[in-house]
Amino acid sequence: VIPLSLQRRVEGLLQEHVDRIHLALGKARDKLEENANVEHIEDLVPRENPDSLVDASVMERVLQRRSLRLRNVQRAWQESPEGTKMLNFRKSLPAYKEKDMLLSAIARNQVVVISGETGCGKTTQLPQYILESEIESGRGAFCNIICTQPRRISAMSVAERVSAERGEDPGESVGYKVRLEGMKGKNTHLLFCTSGILLRRLLSDRNLNGVTHVFVDEIHERGMNEDFLLIVLKDLLPRRRDLRLILMSATLNAELFSGFFNGAPTIHIPGFTYPVRAQFLEDILEITGYKLSSVNQIDNYGQEKLWKTQRQLLPRKRKNQINTLVEDALSKSSFERYSSRTRDSLASWSPDCIGFNLIEAVLCHICRKERPGAVLVFMTGWDDISCLKDQLKAHPLLGDPNRVLVLTCHGSMATSEQKLIFEKPPPNIRKIVLATNMAEASITINDIVFVVDCGKAKETTYDALNNTPCLLPSWISQASARQRRGRAGRVQPGECYHLYPRCVYDAFAEYQLPELLRTPLNSLCLQIKSLQLDSIGEFLSAALQPPEPLAVQNAIDFLKVIEALDEKENLTNLGQYLSMLPVDPKLGKMLIMGAVFRCLDPILTIVSGLSVRDPFLLPQDKKDLAGSAKSRFSAKDYSDHMALVRAYEGWKDADREGSAYEYCWRNFLSSQALQAIHSLRKQFNFILKDAGLIDADPGINNSLSHNQPLVRAIICSGLFPGISSVVHREKSMSFKTMEDGQVLLYANSVNSRYQTIPYPWLVFGEKVKVNTVFIRDSTGVSDSILILFGGILTHGASAGQLKMLDGFIDFFMNPSLAECYWNLKFELDKLIQKK
Ligand code: CDP
Ligand code: MG
Repeated sequence: VIPLSLQRRVEGLLQEHVDRIHLALGKARDKLEENANVEHIEDLVPRENPDSLVDASVMERVLQRRSLRLRNVQRAWQESPEGTKMLNFRKSLPAYKEKDMLLSAIARNQVVVISGETGCGKTTQLPQYILESEIESGRGAFCNIICTQPRRISAMSVAERVSAERGEDPGESVGYKVRLEGMKGKNTHLLFCTSGILLRRLLSDRNLNGVTHVFVDEIHERGMNEDFLLIVLKDLLPRRRDLRLILMSATLNAELFSGFFNGAPTIHIPGFTYPVRAQFLEDILEITGYKLSSVNQIDNYGQEKLWKTQRQLLPRKRKNQINTLVEDALSKSSFERYSSRTRDSLASWSPDCIGFNLIEAVLCHICRKERPGAVLVFMTGWDDISCLKDQLKAHPLLGDPNRVLVLTCHGSMATSEQKLIFEKPPPNIRKIVLATNMAEASITINDIVFVVDCGKAKETTYDALNNTPCLLPSWISQASARQRRGRAGRVQPGECYHLYPRCVYDAFAEYQLPELLRTPLNSLCLQIKSLQLDSIGEFLSAALQPPEPLAVQNAIDFLKVIEALDEKENLTNLGQYLSMLPVDPKLGKMLIMGAVFRCLDPILTIVSGLSVRDPFLLPQDKKDLAGSAKSRFSAKDYSDHMALVRAYEGWKDADREGSAYEYCWRNFLSSQALQAIHSLRKQFNFILKDAGLIDADPGINNSLSHNQPLVRAIICSGLFPGISSVVHREKSMSFKTMEDGQVLLYANSVNSRYQTIPYPWLVFGEKVKVNTVFIRDSTGVSDSILILFGGILTHGASAGQLKMLDGFIDFFMNPSLAECYWNLKFELDKLIQKK
């Protein structure tokens, strides 16, 4: 029995601790808001702060002078030989013919919807036409054009391209801004940014003051941020009658958007793509002579699903009958017979064991038999891309660097690699680009003549009923398949190889489901709250296609649990702070806790690691070796997160000794991912410093970094309520979460390698449903940590709860934790006094 006096003391301490964290956060928030405003004015509206100039006419004169300068620079470039050459290229794009019509439509209407084939010049030309015409008319410095992109890499590469077309470097008249990175200057009047950046700007500047034109690009993708932006912008338009909104889309569902904006005019830019011949699996088997001889030899890619599900659907059929079935499936009638049930089971396919022989056969065919031209292969994700790349290396023809150049294109690639994709290969070398669906619409590689389409893309879906996100490669839509095919017809007639039967294509959905309907809405709801819009539910019901009320409720509940919202759904200090950090709310909370509790370094590494790709590689054929390499980093920590910290520290040491490459190779680590973590860490550090949450002296920020139980507690505070219990029964061990019942650990988790885990709980950041629910990275925590750090900020722990937990006494009797607690009080006192 816990003495009452001790209980009271603990409660008192907790309350104090809670109050102080709140105070610190409140102050930090004010500072962040202040900075945010300053930053935004410079950021997106690059001119002097109008308030600093007493006289408006002075401002006017400054801008006029700048406008003249802009015009001189522009004219000089256009008259130069390179400028003329560039202009001639630009005139060859289909958008050019419509230029005057487009400009006048934009001048006459507040909203215009524009569609046109990928590559016709929407992204690079339209915003540029406005910029040029404003500059030419002598008003260049008065216009501020923003063009949003769904992905950071497209924002950057487009800005680079448009700058080059204007004979400049990014950051002059054209710039970009993406999460944690940007290139913009005083004279930047056309800014490419991600849609997330524009949303963040709207948080502190509801009216988009100073912005004259907003382009929302790639709206056909129906990304969550784009859909969200459209609601907010629709609300803004009546307040900013002078603001122009231009929506751009590659495919022709313009009516949907036009309807949303009360019948805004739609303009289609007629394309100039060459015809592309579509070949489906049945044709491909014929052309390549590839034999589907036995089930074991059938490639998993593309057609695998179909066969596999048929096998599942017909368990009693003997194996040797399946071959007939396979051939049978190539005829439409038989596919239809299975298709309704097949489609359900398609969702449960996992890309774990993929063979690429069919793709290899197609590539060989192209290299041997076809005319020159680059090849673009659409695959589902980075793992597949790197596996296939490895397989091709070993191929006598495709692996020969004198004949074939294999490049990759995916979201997290380095900028240097990105440039290579656009470059012409040396003569007589065939360029093959392995890409995710990123290359579908937002990136244009000019010399593509052949496209290989596996028919799938990794798509997150969201199961609101079980509140579980799922990440599955699923069949793309017909619109996507057409889009992929179109990539082959940029410079001459092309060929597209679809690695699935035509009847499968016919069964595809027409368009993809909007992201808003297939992702958890946590971050989004937090942003809606901080925009102080109506109630979250009401706001989202104004969307093009509103999400289910249950999905919204789940998000609100989640935000309450992590204490970003209070009981009345008002934003807490923590919530306001989190809405401004450019990370997932959970990770944001972990960062703040790491800063406040003075164990910054390990937490920076963990948060950065969780926001980029996992640095622990898992090659198909060396899973076991890779797994044991990873568990070497975990010692007796029972924590994937700590393993990450150790791996990163080791990499830094190795780097200092010049052996980073070997270190990565030996330990199955991705040096790219580690680099990314390294730079993200710096950026997060900067943000925290900027907010006044950490000290200039790294020693102080890390005074408790060595305290392992504390680091564990901070991990718990960020990942809560992602928690599963560890159930030991006899010799086996299983894991359960409240919502899902039994769950499994990812094979690559260090915790999957232990016979027993001496902690009653595992906290995890992410769970994914692939048949069963899997939890990814996890860390073992004790009862007391869970109660003290799982959602402590406002509730603390009630006496009743504490009483139930034997562990809590240990917590305060444990000298190192008690010490850290007192240290914390001390550090917080200092932090607050400094304000
Ligand atoms: O946005 P949309 O798909 O309509 O086309 P775009 O991105 O504006 O590209 C127009 C043209 O510019 C492409 O057809 C390419 O020829 C060229 N371009 C390029 O050469 N390099 C880039 N990084 C982007 C575009
Ligand atoms: Mg575009």
